[in-house]
Amino acid sequence: MLFSFLLSAVIPVTPMPADVRSVDADAFVMPEHPVLSIQAPATDSVRIAACAVDDWGARFNIGTKPQVRFVMTDSVAGVVSPEGYSLQIAPDVVTARAVSGAGLFYAMQTLRQLVASGDTLPAMDIVDNPRLPYRGMMLDISRHFRDKEFIKKQIDAVARLKINRVHLHLTDAAGWRLEIKKYPELTDFAAWRQGNTWKEWNAQGNKYLHRDDPGAVGGFLTQDDAREIVKYAADRYITVIPEIEMPSHSEEVNATFPQLSCTHEQYGQPDFCVGNELTFEFLQNVLDEVLEIFPSADIHIGGDEASKRAWKDCALCKARMEAEGLENVDELQSYLIHRIEQYLNSKGRNLLGWDEIMEGGLAPNATVMSWRGIEGGIRAAQSGHRAIMSPGAYCYLDNYQDAPPTQPEAIGGYMPLKTVYSYNPVPDTLDASVKPWIQGVQGNLWCEYIPTAEHAEYMLYPRMIAIAEIGWTPQEKRDWDDFRPRAVAIAGAMRERGYNTFDLNTEHGNKPGFDTPVEHLARGKKVTYAVPWWNRYTAGADTTLTDGLRGGWNYTDGRWQGFLNRADQRVDVTIDLEKVTDISYVGGEFMQIIGPGVWLPQRVEISVSTDGKKFKTLTVINHEQKATEGLSFKMFDWQGSARARYVRFIANSAEGCQFLDEIIVR
Ligand code: ACM
Repeated sequence: MLFSFLLSAVIPVTPMPADVRSVDADAFVMPEHPVLSIQAPATDSVRIAACAVDDWGARFNIGTKPQVRFVMTDSVAGVVSPEGYSLQIAPDVVTARAVSGAGLFYAMQTLRQLVASGDTLPAMDIVDNPRLPYRGMMLDISRHFRDKEFIKKQIDAVARLKINRVHLHLTDAAGWRLEIKKYPELTDFAAWRQGNTWKEWNAQGNKYLHRDDPGAVGGFLTQDDAREIVKYAADRYITVIPEIEMPSHSEEVNATFPQLSCTHEQYGQPDFCVGNELTFEFLQNVLDEVLEIFPSADIHIGGDEASKRAWKDCALCKARMEAEGLENVDELQSYLIHRIEQYLNSKGRNLLGWDEIMEGGLAPNATVMSWRGIEGGIRAAQSGHRAIMSPGAYCYLDNYQDAPPTQPEAIGGYMPLKTVYSYNPVPDTLDASVKPWIQGVQGNLWCEYIPTAEHAEYMLYPRMIAIAEIGWTPQEKRDWDDFRPRAVAIAGAMRERGYNTFDLNTEHGNKPGFDTPVEHLARGKKVTYAVPWWNRYTAGADTTLTDGLRGGWNYTDGRWQGFLNRADQRVDVTIDLEKVTDISYVGGEFMQIIGPGVWLPQRVEISVSTDGKKFKTLTVINHEQKATEGLSFKMFDWQGSARARYVRFIANSAEGCQFLDEIIVR
């Protein structure tokens, strides 16, 4: 039988291969007991055979007249990356070729996905290369400890998606999670806390406990555990990158060794003292053991969100700044990063850090992981540094993936699969000379609000599937409509293998009204602002409140306008309806999510005028401001009957900032 089919779009493989060509020949039918041959070094052969055993078990045989061949060779037509491969499906034999074990392994992942949807494989030639050399997933095992079995299970899942880096966030205030032989106190004390969840720990005052204390919650990876993870990952061509936080996010270390902070107080000190040589002695001793365990070329040193508070008044920090000619505390942070970079470089490793490592001057060989937007990564790339893109708005898998009221509480944001998938880490507008410095993309799972393993998987998948395709598939071949059903199928197959994924079949989507503009009397009418909006959240500027476009679940979605506190009057706008009009309704909706300081107003006043000078109050709505969990919305409105040309809408708040998307007049 002859098969012919459209190029690429129909093959059930994710990430979608770069080049798929149908061949006018009979299909290959996977025999009942296929014969497999692997011509590659023993280590690689074992790794590839392990996948075959996993999927086909007793069905397959090793033999000399193979039906499925894996061949490592010096060069393969069209393969331009060390991780690339070709996969030829001919009527009698399937042949994978690559120049490395990783390439053959990726050919195997493609083949196992093809076979998963049926034993009849249409004849085709696939030539595939990754778009980016670094395709990562970050797991935060500090906020809630996750053990080696959990980590290995996730490594197994993402290896199938051709992810090649797993970044472990091992240390943070909520717990130190790696055994360090020289400092057993770190895992006898700083890995254990009072309070099961991160929230309970916060509520109970962020205290640590000794591991044998009653009620101690926590855990850590022994060095043997970590080595087992590294090996398990290497067998799947994944490099494990350890992250050891410095100079901040280090409350747990300072609680263990108070002499490492500026104040020597046990509690409340996030930053190491950069003036104190003991800090460098500690960090280098820790890194010495970390480098022994983790062969990764990149070593992540955190570097984010240093408070730098105590440095300003610390005699040792001031002496350091004086001696080194440092102008400010940013340069003091940069001093630490430079020094640690020199140390890592002297051991043949590269420093990788969050984009704050650029503050005060970027260390000469450092790689920047861009999380506060994309600017840090782009600036790093423009100055000839490697950049890994993981901007919060697309790659932070701790954001909500569906309508917040339907989901377990998340730390914030609404970031469905489609938003993640829409991310392009290498913008077209960049110069050709800059683009190659953007080396990767990474999905980050921060776990403050994610206390269980099941919840972590729920947040990871299917969104990690999108990250994998972003990192692998050429931008011009990516297509949301084609991707979504593949993601549905993969997540379904993962559930069968025991993963607790989010089920896209139940997706609710964005806030009702987001997709359909609302018609009302004020639509398109001019709005005058007595108090300007917050310039960080301009939305559509002075047309926002009457453009008919309702906001979604996120105040960052460009539909919500932000208002800061100015003279205690945060929203004060007047709409000109252009002529005196009968009105029966005026309303504006606000949101509350107190984590980032977004509050419903305390008082809303709606008034009207026929001449724009004398206003008559229609209603005053008082609202008691209360801290609430999660995300909520409230419409502040008036109904009745009035005649007016001008409608004035005032909203005050004693707390935080306010967000408003539209003022509806009927
Ligand atoms: C980060 O999210 N603080 C890197």
